[in-house]
Amino acid sequence: MRISRRHFLSTAAAGLATPALIGTAFAAEGGNMLPIPDLLDLRGGAKAALDAQAGQTAILSGRMSASAGYNQGFLGPVIRMNRGETARLTLGNRLHEPVSVHWHGMHIEGGQDGGPHTLVNPDEPVEAALDVDQPAATLWYHSHVHERTGAHVWYGLAGMVMVDDPDAPDDGLPSTYGVDDLPLVVQDRVFDRAGQLLYAPQGPTRMMGYRGDQILVNGAIRPVASVPGGLVRLRILNGSNARIYHFGFADGRSFHQIGTDGGLLPAPLQMNGLTLAPAERAEIVVDFSDGQGVALLSAPDTNMMMGGMMGGMMGGAMASPEPVADGGVFEVMRFSVGAPGADTKTTLPARITAATLPVARDLANLPRRRFSLDMMPGGGGMMSMMRGGGHAMAINGDSMDMAVINQQFRQGQAEIWEVSAEMMAHPFHIHGTSFEVLSNSGSVAGFERTGWKDVVLVSGTAELLVQFNRTADSAAPYMYHCHILEHEDLGMMGQFTVT
Ligand code: C2O
Ligand code: CU
Ligand code: CU
Repeated sequence: MRISRRHFLSTAAAGLATPALIGTAFAAEGGNMLPIPDLLDLRGGAKAALDAQAGQTAILSGRMSASAGYNQGFLGPVIRMNRGETARLTLGNRLHEPVSVHWHGMHIEGGQDGGPHTLVNPDEPVEAALDVDQPAATLWYHSHVHERTGAHVWYGLAGMVMVDDPDAPDDGLPSTYGVDDLPLVVQDRVFDRAGQLLYAPQGPTRMMGYRGDQILVNGAIRPVASVPGGLVRLRILNGSNARIYHFGFADGRSFHQIGTDGGLLPAPLQMNGLTLAPAERAEIVVDFSDGQGVALLSAPDTNMMMGGMMGGMMGGAMASPEPVADGGVFEVMRFSVGAPGADTKTTLPARITAATLPVARDLANLPRRRFSLDMMPGGGGMMSMMRGGGHAMAINGDSMDMAVINQQFRQGQAEIWEVSAEMMAHPFHIHGTSFEVLSNSGSVAGFERTGWKDVVLVSGTAELLVQFNRTADSAAPYMYHCHILEHEDLGMMGQFTVT
């Protein structure tokens, strides 16, 4: 199959460039129907409860695992909101430790953002009112408690958000939820011998991010979605702690990307390979009108320190899914194709209503700030890193401190952020806004390809055009951080106010 090289970081592409994979048997645990999350529809002023709770979930067949979720045992509903409305929720917590509900990608005030300063304590429900004012987009929510985010998300405290814009309906795009508009929350997990979800980062899996050898979509291992024989929109969220996916279809078919983190692109973009780093989203449209079922595959994640040498030196191997093709290519899920429905679309519009944001573009005169993502702040951490002990990570030399505001911004002031990454690629995320990637690793990103982003995979240096139109004070500041959750929990995060 052919995968466009442009979308691959390095050697990952080589893996997918293998003959088509047809008729491969399901590996032992896969093949159940894709679960379609319940819709928690807040449009039109509906109010709802969102309760963090413990669960017992049969992710591996016949074996129950302790898990966590919002309103359910593992993961949470898809929460749908309208631009121009206030989305109201009562946030509850029936677990035995504080959680939060961070609205990843939402342009809302710091006090609404659900970061590590706005916890939901057990049995102390909190009223949330989110002023939704941003383009239609696929976002997500997850717990964001300092030093616990990795564990919380791993066990299931995450779900998808769909923002609709009633004034800019995306007519012509598939949009029937659960039929031709599917949420796909892609995550990797590890289970212990008893079938329990296992979260135990240490040594290399702590340094490089914790990865799993089983791939889950919406909480099911390598499921099958049955789709109508026409155009189907997939809203893909990489909800993994650390794994980067390089997606492609087993028969090499191309598809169109229509949206990125912050909303829709100006025009559908044809491709046959898509890289998604942790927390990134992509909306793609796939044409199933040939009636042929197909597997969605991924090339392996090659984002390791010193090309993986560190893992060997520290005596631990990264978990990786069982390959189904050369180069470690593994299966994510499958699609089986039925008859087209009455509403099934067959042609994509040439132009779509692109997400637009009011951001000053006087690039030559904008202030610049630098952020360096440090895996070994101070430089002398190699020995402590080898031991896998209490090693801190940092940004600009400072490890996350809940009591320190690292940066201050003026509301409405555009800036260019130069973010540089050390030793590995890091998915850099900013709260409270979407940004434009001006360049990444020396090449011009091209807005028509990247759209509005809130996470960007940085390897080398990236220049981001950033502007905050909402405010955040020191009681509930915004965060910027690496979205490899083990890096975030180790302190590769900073806090900022916008006033
Ligand atoms: Cu999705 Cu601060 O994170
Ligand atoms: Cu966020
Ligand atoms: Cu990182």
